[in-house]
Amino acid sequence: MFNNLPKKIQLTEVGPRDGFQNVKTFIPTGDKIAIIEGLIESGLTTLEITSFVSPKAIPQMADAAQICAAILGKYDGKINASALVPNLRGAQLAWDAGIREITCVVSVTAEHNKANVNRTHEESVQELVRMREALPDMNMRVDLATVFACPFVGWVKPEAVAAVTEKIAKTGIKKFVLCDTIGVATPDRVYNLTKFMKSTFPDFEFSLHLHDTRGVGMVNMMAGIMAGVDSFETSVGGLGGCPFAPGAAGNTPTEDVVNMLTDMGITSGVDLNRLLQVVALIKDNVDEPLNSHMAKAKIYDCFCPRQ
Ligand code: COA
Ligand code: ZN
Repeated sequence: MFNNLPKKIQLTEVGPRDGFQNVKTFIPTGDKIAIIEGLIESGLTTLEITSFVSPKAIPQMADAAQICAAILGKYDGKINASALVPNLRGAQLAWDAGIREITCVVSVTAEHNKANVNRTHEESVQELVRMREALPDMNMRVDLATVFACPFVGWVKPEAVAAVTEKIAKTGIKKFVLCDTIGVATPDRVYNLTKFMKSTFPDFEFSLHLHDTRGVGMVNMMAGIMAGVDSFETSVGGLGGCPFAPGAAGNTPTEDVVNMLTDMGITSGVDLNRLLQVVALIKDNVDEPLNSHMAKAKIYDCFCPRQ
């Protein structure tokens, strides 16, 4: 059963965006930068480091430009740093801050799209077109939110996910992240939707973003791997959640994922011990309970994952 697993999984660390956006107490900018530097030093080279959103909507992200200046100033060319943006204004601010890859967000359900970015689907697609015209050299991917379920309307059908993807595809975007925004999917839903999307859009890249609200995040990840996905978004400490999705809880913790993958002989490029030092830094500096097993586990030298 486990014979055909990939040798390598690409992890995109979204803690500095998905994680921090859900922390109410402002994390001082210097602490954010120290945490991001720790993540990079532990081997995470693909990271969503912030978001360029309205500071009225998410005050925690008001220091996006300073974060980019510090991180790109130190690591430019050595890491893939992206930022989430909700509109053209955010995309322009991200470009000015040196970001060359943005994550745009469109929810499959009209109701969550309205709550999150205050737009209809048509308005979201028009905004994507404007972004591509204004910033033709910006790499763009789309986080498809609520692909399994929406806090406002319930379960979502795969056909609805395909219909929204089809509309977005007209803008030329080919990179998508299937997001379980409120973390209620189970492995068969993940496997079936992923297979369906990969066969419906064979030329597109799909990765998965799986919140861990009900403790099924890593099992869902395994289902995604078995469906042929080799790229996942995870969050250090299991921090995360969408402030505009009632009931959303933390993301699947990067350190739990790295522990599992490493022992299975799947490379992620991350040094678990160094990553756990960053988790300790977060415990000391971020006013939020952590949602991670490895953060609480006793680390036995004799049970270190096989390298
Ligand atoms: N960066 C900074 N400020 C921004 C901005 C951006 N990307 N986009 C809008 N603003 C400012 C506007 O200048 C305006 O400020 P003002 O009231 O001082 O004039 C205010 O925000 C409202 O702008 P408006 O264009 O009317 O947007 P809105 O009220 O319809 O809000 C969003 C829409 C998308 C900008 C806002 O809801 C948002 O930023 N949401 C964040 C979504 C998110 O990050 N969700 C979690 C991740 S999925
Ligand atoms: Zn998320």
